[in-house]
Amino acid sequence: MGIQKICCIGAGYVGGPTCSVIALKCPNICVTVVDRSQERIAQWNSEKLPIYEPGLDDVVKKCRGVNLFFSTDIHTGIQEADLIFISVNTPTKVFGNGKGRAADLKYVEGAARMIADIANSNKIVVEKSTVPVRAAESILNILRANNKPGVSYQILSNPEFLAEGTAIEDLLHADRVLIGGEDTPEGQLAIEELCKVYEHWIPRKNILTTNTWSSELSKLAANAFLAQRISSINSLSAVCEATGADVSEVARAVGLDSRIGSKFLQASIGFGGSCFQKDILNLVYICECLNLPEVANYWQQVIDMNEYQKSRFSNKIVESLFNTVSGKHIAILGFAFKKNTGDTRESPAIHVCKTLLIEGAILHIYDPKVEHDQIMADLTHPSVTEEPEVIRKTVHIYDNAYEAAKGAHALVVCTEWDEFMALDFHKIYQVMMKPAYIFDGRKILNHDALLKIGFHVQTIGKRIQRPIQARLWGSRVQT
Ligand code: NAD
Ligand code: UGA
Repeated sequence: MGIQKICCIGAGYVGGPTCSVIALKCPNICVTVVDRSQERIAQWNSEKLPIYEPGLDDVVKKCRGVNLFFSTDIHTGIQEADLIFISVNTPTKVFGNGKGRAADLKYVEGAARMIADIANSNKIVVEKSTVPVRAAESILNILRANNKPGVSYQILSNPEFLAEGTAIEDLLHADRVLIGGEDTPEGQLAIEELCKVYEHWIPRKNILTTNTWSSELSKLAANAFLAQRISSINSLSAVCEATGADVSEVARAVGLDSRIGSKFLQASIGFGGSCFQKDILNLVYICECLNLPEVANYWQQVIDMNEYQKSRFSNKIVESLFNTVSGKHIAILGFAFKKNTGDTRESPAIHVCKTLLIEGAILHIYDPKVEHDQIMADLTHPSVTEEPEVIRKTVHIYDNAYEAAKGAHALVVCTEWDEFMALDFHKIYQVMMKPAYIFDGRKILNHDALLKIGFHVQTIGKRIQRPIQARLWGSRVQT
């Protein structure tokens, strides 16, 4: 018969876009995305979706109310589905054993228990959330321990590899779809059913089937490898700044080796996002539990290097501004963890802002897609400050970059939004305090042009450049 009804538990950054694309590509399948957050579901059913993702609005508009539904009726969603995706959040534990490292599986377990309570027919349960290796075993234990007569379950691992900002493209043209399952006839049958769903648009050769544990580990490994590349190039950016080499030139030279490849070698103020850090910490924790301390230490370094990079960049801003930013106005361009998303989870901009606020700066923040309330919520969070009232007075949020730059001593680019490259920096220079500084944490601006205007420019992985006038003046003094 094949899969006719899919239910996805969790209407977040993964559940929403993934199921929208499944609905688009499988018109014969009815897809219902359920969530316990009424607010989130209401947003999915409104004109303004809860997440900003290029191309998502069009897909949702085409399918919503046809074969794509967003609902808080979790009970009906589970009961009617042949296949259930668990796409809930798996944050790092904040208390108890493994605090700060292990993945908190309470939401996954909660979803499994709901399925066990509600289901009264056979289900294929698909782990879409990123989980520790052998998490599927725990889900299966919960489901089978609560088995109703005549109800059987198959558990599959089908991790998601989409990146925010390009989620729809990534889903439509996935490099690979990974499906892990039990090596039993029933397990293989379940894998086959899920393959058929993806085969509506993904060529079969790009659908990889493995055992469950390989699939779970591959997801953690893929994120660890990607983050490792960023930490590697960021580590070299420090060497570049100390030696006069240029990290962009190094990245290009290294990346042209076809064995290495050019992607994910963009030096930055550090990686952010909800997953890289969380998933590597999870991997480190698993290694420690398996008594593999050398492996744990190896991957921990990727995180440590990222922390170092974020601090290095933030401290450099303070040092360059004559070792004090107290009372100075600093414009922050970009608050999201990368362009084309409104997501701020683990955004390196938060680290930069926190350092500057601790040093007494007044911040003028502009991001094209992050809601003002979200910026304030991030910067008044207890992990950033013990004095939220002070922060509310010293952080000002603007609707455009020109307003944010007015009266600022320095401008700091934290997110690589395309619109920042098209700004009129002559105009910006006029309204800033002098000397005017730009710290380009994403290496997206035309530094030569900025120097000509008169800015002091600092960036990642390249030595400090002084404005042309200052250099001329310096040479005149020497003669
Ligand atoms: P998210 O926080 O945006 O969404 C999770 C949703 O699950 C929330 O809306 C929450 O209300 C809901 N939820 C939690 N428990 C529930 C329950 N018992 N019943 C109903 N709803 C429940 O998270 P996300 O960013 O979509 O990530 C989900 C998973 O996918 C994580 O494991 C993450 O590591 C992984 N992942 C995320 C990305 C990404 O780009 N964000 C990419 C690949 C994989
Ligand atoms: C990442 C992975 O790319 C996805 O494959 C994965 O599915 C996802 O995590 C997940 O599991 O959540 P995402 O975090 O959305 O996706 O975005 P990335 O494009 O990977 O960027 C992550 C961070 O690294 C951003 O802060 C970005 O600015 C930074 N980055 C990326 C660099 O600093 N340099 C680079 O060269 C690339």
